[in-house]
Amino acid sequence: MLLAGVGMVSYVPLLLGLTFSPRTTDIGYAPKQPVEFSHAVHAGQLGMDCRYCHTTVEEAAFAAVPPTATCANCHSNEPNVPGIWRNQQKLTPVHESLATGRPIEWVRVHDLPDYAYFNHAAHVNKGVGCVECHGRVDEMEVVTQVQTLSMAWCLECHREPERFLRPVDQVTNMTWDPVRETGKSQLELGLELKKKYDIKGPQYMTSCSTCHR
Ligand code: HEC
Ligand code: HEC
Ligand code: HEC
Ligand code: HEC
Ligand code: HEC
Repeated sequence: MLLAGVGMVSYVPLLLGLTFSPRTTDIGYAPKQPVEFSHAVHAGQLGMDCRYCHTTVEEAAFAAVPPTATCANCHSNEPNVPGIWRNQQKLTPVHESLATGRPIEWVRVHDLPDYAYFNHAAHVNKGVGCVECHGRVDEMEVVTQVQTLSMAWCLECHREPERFLRPVDQVTNMTWDPVRETGKSQLELGLELKKKYDIKGPQYMTSCSTCHR
């Protein structure tokens, strides 16, 4: 305890002294991307599941952004391979990347400071939906940050996760509604799932070392 106390005394000023990117709390941050890739078209209109492209969300801390090879499943530029060419100019950087092997340089939207630890798998496998943190991505032409990603925001849910939990098989569903799908209120269902998924108690969920490792 004593050692932990001493550690904390030097740790907190260190953290406070850091100047962190204002972007991390910028609701509305929506940088221009090298390709006009639209989630509204792919995840919305075409109804593709998030995991078709973000393949690692269930296994890893990081939610991988897809390599160009994933796009080539539909937007191949090779002769004799069916490719969706509809808007060729918008797809030029995709075809260039396929030809050269150089990845497309997507601009990061959500970015926590390095001293805060986040893990996608830990959330997705316990019934926290993408929509709680990223909003209606299936309606976005350009991905936009919709939550502050501040520590207070993380803690608001970590104190009462039952307000947000859903069945694990619905995490990528953008329009899931507890009352419509189960006839139960969010709170009633959330408390059930909290038990079922063995969600850790508030003491662990709000402890500094859970997110600052
Ligand atoms: C066809 C592939 C594809 C599908 C399907 C897809 N995404 Fe993406 N996603 C991408 C690509 C490419 C990027 C990087 C470019 C961008 O930000 O638009 C991205 C970026 C993102 C980002 C921003 C990442 C960052 O830099 O912070 C989020 C959040 C995201 N996607 C969530 C989702 C969610 C939620 C779904 C399901 C509703 C989904 N995506 C479906 C390809 C896809
Ligand atoms: C499962 C098939 C599929 C995959 C995989 C896919 N797309 Fe598409 N994409 C489509 C279809 C279909 C359209 C045409 C939609 C329309 O015109 O209504 C399209 C349209 C587009 C457009 C033009 C959009 C517009 O507004 O006109 C771009 C740019 C694009 N895709 C980029 C990408 C990128 C980048 C990836 C990989 C991250 C990707 N696509 C992966 C099926 C796919
Ligand atoms: C509990 C909140 C939360 C949930 C749930 C969540 N994300 Fe994220 N997402 C974040 C945060 C925070 C970041 C920034 C992480 C960082 O900077 O270390 C992020 C970053 C990303 C990125 C950029 C790459 C990365 O890992 O930094 C993508 C892509 C993404 N999320 C997609 C998704 C998809 C798809 C889902 C659902 C399957 C999802 N996220 C669920 C909070 C969440
Ligand atoms: C909408 C609710 C929600 C939000 C928002 C949220 N979390 Fe979580 N978080 C959870 C749940 C539920 C778990 C699973 C706890 C368990 O496994 O018992 C979790 C687990 C974690 C874990 C893993 C703990 C462990 O060791 O198993 C970390 C780390 C974490 N969250 C960090 C964050 C950070 C950082 C943020 C803010 C950027 C954040 N979370 C935002 C609900 C949330
Ligand atoms: C649920 C995850 C989580 C927990 C638990 C948590 N933090 Fe944080 N903390 C964060 C995130 C995320 C940031 C970065 C916020 C930002 O970018 O604005 C942060 C930022 C900070 C900062 C930088 C200044 C600030 O306020 O933004 C300090 C200092 C800090 N945390 C101390 C603590 C202490 C002390 C505890 C324990 C009492 C704690 N944190 C518990 C997620 C957490």
